[in-house]
Amino acid sequence: MKLMSELLKPAQVAGLDLKNRVVMSPMCMYEVAKEDGIATDFHFAHYGARALGGVSLIITESTAVLPDGRITKNDLGLWNNQQAEKFSQLVSYLHGLGTKVGVQLNHAGRKAEDAKLKWAPSAIAYNDTYGQPKEMSLAEIAEVKEAFVAAAKRAQAAGVDVIEIHGAHGYLLNQFLSPKTNQRNDEYGGTLAKRYRLVDEIVRAVRAEFTGSLWLRISATDYAPGAENTMADWKQVAGWLQAAGLDCLDVSTGGLLDVKPNIPLYDGYQVQFASALKAASDLSVAAVGLLDNPGLCEYLVQTKQVDLILQARALLRNPNWVMKAATALHDHDYQAYNASYERARL
Ligand SMILES: Cc1cc2nc3c(=O)[nH]c(=O)nc-3n(C[C@H](O)[C@H](O)[C@H](O)COP(=O)(O)O)c2cc1C
Repeated sequence: MKLMSELLKPAQVAGLDLKNRVVMSPMCMYEVAKEDGIATDFHFAHYGARALGGVSLIITESTAVLPDGRITKNDLGLWNNQQAEKFSQLVSYLHGLGTKVGVQLNHAGRKAEDAKLKWAPSAIAYNDTYGQPKEMSLAEIAEVKEAFVAAAKRAQAAGVDVIEIHGAHGYLLNQFLSPKTNQRNDEYGGTLAKRYRLVDEIVRAVRAEFTGSLWLRISATDYAPGAENTMADWKQVAGWLQAAGLDCLDVSTGGLLDVKPNIPLYDGYQVQFASALKAASDLSVAAVGLLDNPGLCEYLVQTKQVDLILQARALLRNPNWVMKAATALHDHDYQAYNASYERARL
């Protein structure tokens, strides 16, 4: 019998058969120099290195569902078939290296840096540099919804295992969810249920098209006490998301407001939100943020506070972070990518 760490042994989570619980968190690379939203050789090398490094799942960077939904014009996109064709090659390539693949679908809303016309639930600027966005009409809201669904169909055809809808970090869906940025008086604003409505519609519409594991990333706090969704609100939302067919909630924080949160930063500083939502729902829950310490990750998984550990900057520093974790956890049964990689184990 293998005595593997809980972090690194195979697990079934959110409908996925995973070789371990370490996931590459989405990270924008802004490497699409041609501004056409199509993956480049860089993406094959960048994600390929992390696949060889042994993460169980790679969630590729924020990928726009519409041209003006890009954070910058150098983002990836999935709004046309040329983008889908190259993305499909990337997915097959990464599958061939033994990792599962997800895509993070996003519309940046008022934080679309390069969009001439920025869309938002209400005409409230992120800051002076970004400028005032346009309050979306109902037709524009429907267009965004259709764009998420069209991109999801392309992702499904490309063979992804996971679609993560980006509802965090101050992008469009986060803007709809927050009472600070959503001051609409119609069916998409006002109460929590109405602010959540667009997310619900998108999750349900994507669910109807996508057979894989469906995730949502949220910002559990906007660091705006008294003017944000509370944990009680998020617990309510988690129940609604489960009913809508979501598989996994990826719990981050911040990004909505142009203020640097005045909070102490320590290992696992966002985990409290993830574990509270795991305790309150039957959704699988992923934690992210300063989780570079393998011992802490093992503890969080062993104590079932969260299901999955997402790594971002640690994987930029070291594509072979999983091997480092195996060594730190004295996991003698962990197998690196091949016998040659195995020789690098400390
Ligand atoms: C270079 C970089 C790009 C990022 N781009 C995205 C992104 O596209 N989508 C997203 O949800 N988060 C993005 N993030 C946030 C990370 O996914 C992660 O939530 C954050 O870095 C905290 O995790 P860490 O401490 O492991 O780095 C990015 C972070 C970095 C460092």
